Amino acid sequence: MLKKDIEKALNEQISIEGSASFLYLSLASWCDTKGFEGSAAFLYQQSDEERMHMLRLFHYINNSGGFAVAPEIKKQNLKIGNLADVFRLVYKSETKVTESVNEMVDLCSRQKDFSTLNFIQWYVSEQYEEEVLMKSIIDKIELVGDDGKGLFMIDQYIKTIRKQPAANPAAAEGDA
Ligand code: FEO
Repeated sequence: MLKKDIEKALNEQISIEGSASFLYLSLASWCDTKGFEGSAAFLYQQSDEERMHMLRLFHYINNSGGFAVAPEIKKQNLKIGNLADVFRLVYKSETKVTESVNEMVDLCSRQKDFSTLNFIQWYVSEQYEEEVLMKSIIDKIELVGDDGKGLFMIDQYIKTIRKQPAANPAAAEGDA
């Protein structure tokens, strides 16, 4: 059985992953309407991936005797001027998710909940990969600045990125 504070923290993580999913949906929409079709495709895919992260938590909580709660959808007020802003928002969101995952790891260690600690390790690996990827995209966009041709090339490159989720058989139990 899950301890109440672990269940609460896992439900908060559900909310954070859900917010990331909807943030990426909003950003995909911006890209879609500005001619960045590669970035839009990538962000739609990332949005689906964040929903999958949320569902892993859902299944884990319910399979462990807790109760998973669907998060509230909050309106996003985004200020986006260019493609770099889009990926800066993605990166900021990822660092927030990482912070929260790290807090989960700390809580599980203190509470000696080794099952949840094992489960959450998948998120630690996943966050590392996502932060590195998003930072590398920002670096490329900043390299070309406002050059339209350069941005077009980068958008085409982003379209080719197919991120593989982090491997961790321990998390398979919570797979969607
Ligand atoms: Fe599931 Fe990248 O946060």
